[in-house]
Amino acid sequence: MQRNNRFSSVLGRSAWPPALLTLSLALIAGLTASSLNLQARDNPPDRIPSYVAWTPETIAAASGGDAFRGMLLAKRCDHCHGAEGFSPIASTPNLAGMDKLATWKQLEDFRTRKRLSRVMEPIATSLSSRDVADVVAYYAALPVLPDPQDNRTFPQSQADPGHAAIASRLISFGDGERGIPPCQACHGPVAYRTGVPSLATQNAAYVLNQLEAFANRARTNDINMPMRTITALLTEGERQAIADYYGSGLGLQPASSTAPK
Ligand code: HEC
Ligand code: HEC
Repeated sequence: MQRNNRFSSVLGRSAWPPALLTLSLALIAGLTASSLNLQARDNPPDRIPSYVAWTPETIAAASGGDAFRGMLLAKRCDHCHGAEGFSPIASTPNLAGMDKLATWKQLEDFRTRKRLSRVMEPIATSLSSRDVADVVAYYAALPVLPDPQDNRTFPQSQADPGHAAIASRLISFGDGERGIPPCQACHGPVAYRTGVPSLATQNAAYVLNQLEAFANRARTNDINMPMRTITALLTEGERQAIADYYGSGLGLQPASSTAPK
């Protein structure tokens, strides 16, 4: 407090000669610019979100895996993603029943550092392209309905009951005024776009982390930027509501059935 007062009185009395003031402002501006440059270099470049392009060859490679061989490889993933593809840790994604192309693209992006994850990068790098196709075939074949015999974390209980209405409206209708398309037009269960992960059985904490990562551009691997654009338009409360909605298993039914009439 006292320090602030002294500082402003110094400025008030113009104790700093104008030349010195200009010089220090220029220095501050220079420093800010160079630290921004550094940050830009740390992040993957926005210009190329992913090296994956959905050509017929890519689709064939990503969907032609051997699920049995994948099951053996998945022993290395069990610890974090769960023996049945339902993770015991809510911030780690569930992979059970996930579309082959969607999982394949994420592993490819981790390997090429288009999606940054200290945990997943070395794991994805250690897999051959055949391994990736096989392991995604295995996860795609696992049932998505949680088995109560298993100690699974999914579904989670919803923190705030009011969240369901906010989320189901955005998921089924979006918000025309703000230019937000309905999530279920790409993520299902109404329609699935190529390579788009299903969210219906995804953990709340993981969904929230990803929505925030897209919004603040820590994650930039969405081709044509649908997610960076949409998440920037959502409020913090809406991101939380959507995460809770999916995490509590409501996404397994069309959102219109849970939307307020
Ligand atoms: C040490 C824990 C750990 C292990 C082992 C691990 N993962 Fe992961 N995985 C994670 C975490 C954490 C994330 C989320 C990263 C993030 O937040 O961006 C993740 C993300 C993923 C994703 C992205 C899913 C999505 O919906 O976008 C895929 C696919 C994946 N892992 C596959 C695998 C496969 C296949 C293996 C085994 C070969 C494996 N993981 C082993 C922790 C692990
Ligand atoms: C125009 C299509 C489209 C719409 C609409 C859309 N998404 Fe996405 N979303 C994508 C694509 C494509 C990806 C995968 C990006 C990538 O390749 O990594 C994605 C990824 C995500 C992920 C990360 C999933 C994971 O497993 O890593 C979340 C969470 C997500 N979207 C939530 C939403 C929500 C919530 C909405 C609605 C408010 C929404 N999306 C609307 C296309 C869309």
